[in-house]
Amino acid sequence: MTLSLGKDGVRHFLSLSDAGGEAIAAILGDAQERKAARAGWPKGKVDADAPLAGHVLAMIFEKNSTRTRVSFDLAMRQLGGSAIILDSGSSQLGRGESVGDTARVLSRLADAIMIRTDSHSRAEALAAAASVPVINGLTDLSHPCQILADMLTLIERKGKLAGSKWAWLGDGNNVCNSLIEAASLMFFDVTVACPEGFEPDIAVLKEAAARGRSVPIVRDAASAAVGADVIVTDTWTSMGQADSDNRARVMAPFAVDEALMAGAGEEAVFMHCLPAHRGEEVSDAVLDGAQSAAWDEAENRLHAQKSLLLWCLGKL
Ligand code: CP
Ligand code: NVA
Repeated sequence: MTLSLGKDGVRHFLSLSDAGGEAIAAILGDAQERKAARAGWPKGKVDADAPLAGHVLAMIFEKNSTRTRVSFDLAMRQLGGSAIILDSGSSQLGRGESVGDTARVLSRLADAIMIRTDSHSRAEALAAAASVPVINGLTDLSHPCQILADMLTLIERKGKLAGSKWAWLGDGNNVCNSLIEAASLMFFDVTVACPEGFEPDIAVLKEAAARGRSVPIVRDAASAAVGADVIVTDTWTSMGQADSDNRARVMAPFAVDEALMAGAGEEAVFMHCLPAHRGEEVSDAVLDGAQSAAWDEAENRLHAQKSLLLWCLGKL
């Protein structure tokens, strides 16, 4: 996961490292300003400066989505541009056209491409052949757009990100990998509490360690929660994964409920990228409770991605 500058210095965003800490800070700052500048406006109204007027984002979905789909579409509308959605089932990708050829075509017809797909290498292959920025809208390895929104949410709630303490509970999955990457770039702590065999990606952990950010992996949820500013979890079975019964069995001790939140304290924030599986990784009381920031996270996908799009297109 090195700096992913494509042909002619095109700014891809396959991972948070592609942007780096300085650009992430700029993206988060711009997102706060843009969000404040349009507070109370109708959702579809274009920002006063319409910085992406005339620009088009092509979005490829090879997996389901609600938030990513709506927030990127709305992001382009608010920036003055527009979005075109391609679902795998109804595009030629679904009939075997290569991602490379798809990238070449979409680079002629769109100003940027977002892809949600299964294997991370498929997103990399798309970026390698694209001459416009490619954004990772979730792969099996990572979900960097989600963590941009989560960092923005914490800044809103606590005023700062650096030095904060996050406890990830459950599956060490794609969202967890991006959180670890973020911690190493933005100077905050993450502890991962997960069952054996469900740890985050080893290369991601090594990269964080090389940046001086070691991530404790623990087996006890309650101890991970003590002193945490953020308790964060996600589904126990991500899209494309099998064996959900066994996963639910081994991850049950890592469920976030009121007792676990009490251990973290009433100042702690609960985060979940959604969709949630109520009664599994999180209880109704926590997800709907006063400490939950899940709905802010969902809204902040929009605000963070607007500034990300501006960065990708060289306007930030
Ligand atoms: N959190 C998230 O990426 O949601 P969707 O799967 O609905 O896009
Ligand atoms: N880890 C989940 C995130 C969904 C937004 C998945 O990959 O299905």
